[in-house]
Amino acid sequence: MECIFVNGGRALNGTVAASGAKNSALAIMTATLLCGGKHRISGVPDLRDISTMKRLLEHLGVQIKGESEFELDATHIDIVDAPYELVKTMRASFLVLGPLLARFGNARVSLPGGCAIGLRPVDMHIKAFEAMGADIKIENGYVHAVCERMHGARILLDMPTVGGTENIMMAACLADGVTVIENAAREPEISDLALALRSAGARITGDGSGTITIEGVKELAPIVHTVMPDRIEAGTLLIAGAITAGDVTVDNCPVEYMGATLEKLREVGCVVDASGDSVRICSNGSLQPVEVTTSPYPGFPTDMQAQLMSLLTLAEGTSLIRETVFENRFIHVAELDRMGAHIRVERDCAIVTGVAQLEAARVMASDLRASASLILAGLAARGTTVVSRIYHLDRGYEALEKKLQHLGADIRRGQE
Ligand code: UD1
Repeated sequence: MECIFVNGGRALNGTVAASGAKNSALAIMTATLLCGGKHRISGVPDLRDISTMKRLLEHLGVQIKGESEFELDATHIDIVDAPYELVKTMRASFLVLGPLLARFGNARVSLPGGCAIGLRPVDMHIKAFEAMGADIKIENGYVHAVCERMHGARILLDMPTVGGTENIMMAACLADGVTVIENAAREPEISDLALALRSAGARITGDGSGTITIEGVKELAPIVHTVMPDRIEAGTLLIAGAITAGDVTVDNCPVEYMGATLEKLREVGCVVDASGDSVRICSNGSLQPVEVTTSPYPGFPTDMQAQLMSLLTLAEGTSLIRETVFENRFIHVAELDRMGAHIRVERDCAIVTGVAQLEAARVMASDLRASASLILAGLAARGTTVVSRIYHLDRGYEALEKKLQHLGADIRRGQE
């Protein structure tokens, strides 16, 4: 089995660059289904989730060329059916539903099902498409949606779902009339998708706020867009600097969208300097406990929770982490405890009592961000930590171990 071996205890120093944002790239790739012609998307990270999305789009008939600069031709879509085998490995696959339905009036997409971090239903996506005129049946684990022509609607989301906002926004681009999404998610990746759609002639305003207005157009042109940098990867690399009492600069950071993360790292006692699109973090190893609650953007991102928790295991006191976005996102706790951390979970809270030193252990990754948190803990631990099930890591981090090696980490990938 492929594992990552981390020999902890080295302070990381130097400069690395963040890659393109996974969540933004995935959504923009699905948006190419909205029209024929050759779309150009640059800055796409080399990740397993991106390969999965590529396979799904190719299955539907999209022709894809290139590596980090993709040319996608969605002129001939033969199939409007996204099978369980592809959707179950990556929930973002469900985002093909909106574009397929809006362009072809017919789509059949597998329900994603739950995942390690929670139930993650798609009821809000479905309700919105019904409000836009679709007739939706759920049969044999598939959502089958048909609609002669979608129409605009006022959609009030029960909670600001990222994928739901994206799916509705894409479908609304080709619907008749105006769609208003209220209580929309405000994540920067949604604005990046809106920017990509506007490059194709979509009429979208209000993205980045809680109310997004989309005026449908008859037809879109191909998208030309460069994907924004990944704020979660950037934050993870900064914590690698902090947890090793190092001095790390991350280039290509979307600094304006990293406010909550950078603020929390300052509160922990790190020196954080942002200049242009670079962030430098320095730590002398003295870490202060903090309280943090995950929430939709602009709050502290749930996708940074596990990584911050690793850092807080070494703080001088007790921290409180409340997870409000997903119901089961503390699976990494048991593995961190095996490395000598003191964490107690009570309902949606993790109470982290700092220890002086983490100890290496064999640990198992349970999801993407949990795998990053274990590697971060391994960087600080005494001895060699072996992280297994690293396919989770490869879903969302481009060459993480190479970037960490570049900063001086003793980390390698190998067979157990
Ligand atoms: C996206 C991100 C993921 C991030 C999450 C929250 C992508 C590809 N993934 O996931 O990295 O952790 O946002 O920032 O962009 N919900 C419902 N009904 C719905 C939709 C969602 O109850 O119809 C719930 C979910 O179960 C969850 C919460 O809403 O508890 C937020 O989910 P959502 O924002 O939709 O997350 P994703 O788009 O799946």
